[in-house]
Amino acid sequence: MPPLTYANYLDLEKLLTLQNPRSTPAEHDEMLFIIIHQTYELWFKQLLHEFDRINRDFGAGKLFDAIHSFKRARTIMKTLVGQIDILETMTPSSFSSFRDRLDTASGFQSIQFRELEFLLGYKRASTLAYVKPDMPGYVRLEQRLKERTVIDYFYDFLETRGAKIPAELKSRDLTQPNQPNEQVQAEILKLYRSSPEVSILFELMTDFDEGLQEWRYRHIKLVERTIGAKKGTGGSPGVPFLKQSLFHPIFPDLWAIRVQM
Ligand code: HEM
Repeated sequence: MPPLTYANYLDLEKLLTLQNPRSTPAEHDEMLFIIIHQTYELWFKQLLHEFDRINRDFGAGKLFDAIHSFKRARTIMKTLVGQIDILETMTPSSFSSFRDRLDTASGFQSIQFRELEFLLGYKRASTLAYVKPDMPGYVRLEQRLKERTVIDYFYDFLETRGAKIPAELKSRDLTQPNQPNEQVQAEILKLYRSSPEVSILFELMTDFDEGLQEWRYRHIKLVERTIGAKKGTGGSPGVPFLKQSLFHPIFPDLWAIRVQM
């Protein structure tokens, strides 16, 4: 066996052959476009990895582990938002020069992004219509639609802290999005008042949630300034579709109680 090196540990030779611009004559910015998207997909992979752990930790009532992972997830989210600045250095005319090459390809078809939404309880089964069963990861995505979300595991965690979770939430149809609930809000409020360490977790969850909404906002502005009112390559109406989820909170219960604090 050859000694382990930086390059073979990271499989760099393979990684660095995966950027294949398609425009002829070559369009300088297409490389950036590819690298940014690939980087996002890597971070989505890491976020899914972190949330799978958060779910396990919530289930086991491990507060400090969940705090640790949410801190990381929130920080990754800030990086995802920050990366948009780099792509915004690409002008609309530069993007137009290779946009045709994208054909129907669009971030809309990002299976990992959709997996993340499902895992976070934002289950829009209708979005499955825009991805195809033969796409890599489709089976995993379908599976996620049926699985418990981070909010279902969050209920388990709240129970380990003495909260009473309504029975209808415990036996809910898992293929549907999680919904806000007043009883859960009352329990969270109690914990905010009685347990400062649990309130650290709640605040980090809110940070993550705000970060995802910030990403949605920045992505819409990026789209507006790059393609204006043109339709998306993924077949949606473009900006109007994206605006539907702009202010969608992942943890609505954590937002609803603020008026009472
Ligand atoms: C020039 C840059 C970009 C443009 C013009 C653009 C455009 C769009 C448009 C129009 C949509 C709506 C769906 C459709 O295609 O019809 C969309 C969705 C999406 N894009 Fe982008 N995008 C850009 C960059 C990015 C980047 C860097 C990412 C990072 C992964 C990304 C991820 C997504 C995701 C995840 C969706 C689905 C969002 C949702 O369903 O709420 N996009 N994009």
